[in-house]
Amino acid sequence: MIATMISDTQKHYPVLLNEIISIITPQYGGTFIDFTFGQGGYSKKILENSSSNIIAIDRDINSSFQASKIKSNFKDRFTFKNLKFSQISNLKLKNENIKGAIFDLGYSYTQIKDSEKGLSFDSKGDLNMKMGLNKFSAHDAINKLSEKELEKIFKVFGEEKDSKKIALKITKERKKKYINTQDLVKIIESFKIKNKYKIHNATRVFQALRIFVNQEISELIYGLINATKILKKDGVLVVVSFHSLEDKIVKYFFKSLSENKSVSRYLPKTKDKINLLKLVNKKPIIPSQKEILENPPSRSAKLRCAIKKHEFYEFETDILKKFKYLTDIEKYSLKL
Ligand SMILES: C[S@@+](CC[C@H](N)C(=O)[O-])C[C@H]1O[C@@H](n2cnc3c(N)ncnc32)[C@H](O)[C@@H]1O
Repeated sequence: MIATMISDTQKHYPVLLNEIISIITPQYGGTFIDFTFGQGGYSKKILENSSSNIIAIDRDINSSFQASKIKSNFKDRFTFKNLKFSQISNLKLKNENIKGAIFDLGYSYTQIKDSEKGLSFDSKGDLNMKMGLNKFSAHDAINKLSEKELEKIFKVFGEEKDSKKIALKITKERKKKYINTQDLVKIIESFKIKNKYKIHNATRVFQALRIFVNQEISELIYGLINATKILKKDGVLVVVSFHSLEDKIVKYFFKSLSENKSVSRYLPKTKDKINLLKLVNKKPIIPSQKEILENPPSRSAKLRCAIKKHEFYEFETDILKKFKYLTDIEKYSLKL
């Protein structure tokens, strides 16, 4: 879902910004990692209101334009790198005092308006959906994966109830010609009743394809693991998610590391079980009615956060095993 929006007045709108600032308290100093720099809404606010440092990453190289503007104002306190969550070791951190790691998942208004990226149903031409640093596109997936694989992607990543019929029609149509964005929308709509008021009929299939093309499930899992590793003791991990699959993963990660489990074989043996994380909020924080009125797409945002209670880098988590049924679907990409 769209996390950072331009509202009707075309104003840049970072979701739950005030809530995030009050959780991470950048006024007390330290270094914060903005894992989803986007248009820099969070980074800018932190830099303007504190003497803290920001290390920002984004997989989309187009973010570097906004990053260079911020860099010119906050030279020594701001660094940007074009990286994915899974590539965070490339940051080559030394012993920075990492006090916060922030994720604002999904894609930005700027990305959906970028016709080349083809994230919108109105995009013309070839399917794409690459957010940056990708190995394959939605064009490759739609035109090369098997009917069964496409069905599974639509069903599991998009919860699309017509996934079987849509996958079958795609494989028939692509024998005649390559399927582009408009062809795909037409195929989906051929199984749907036109509706003026609900979400666009192609939303679920498009979400599923975007997750698959950008390998968003494994990226999120490695992002959470990597962020937790580099946080210092008492550092805070904040994640804003926009759909149920994302939130399920974040919720499980936080819960499993905060509920009386022995989390590290690297620690001295002790009888006490150790919790690596402490939840800040049991229930997710959601936008106020005022924010939703100003920026309607923020209505699906859920913010979860937790504090790292122990100073160690390595820890054990079963999150990869738990969500293997999802990452196995992302592995269909290996043949593309
Ligand atoms: C919702 S936007 C963030 C907006 C930002 N908080 C702001 O205020 O401008 C999400 C951003 O995360 C980036 N992103 C998504 N998945 C990523 C990944 N795996 N690694 C790095 N960046 C990612 C997208 O390219 C996009 O720019």
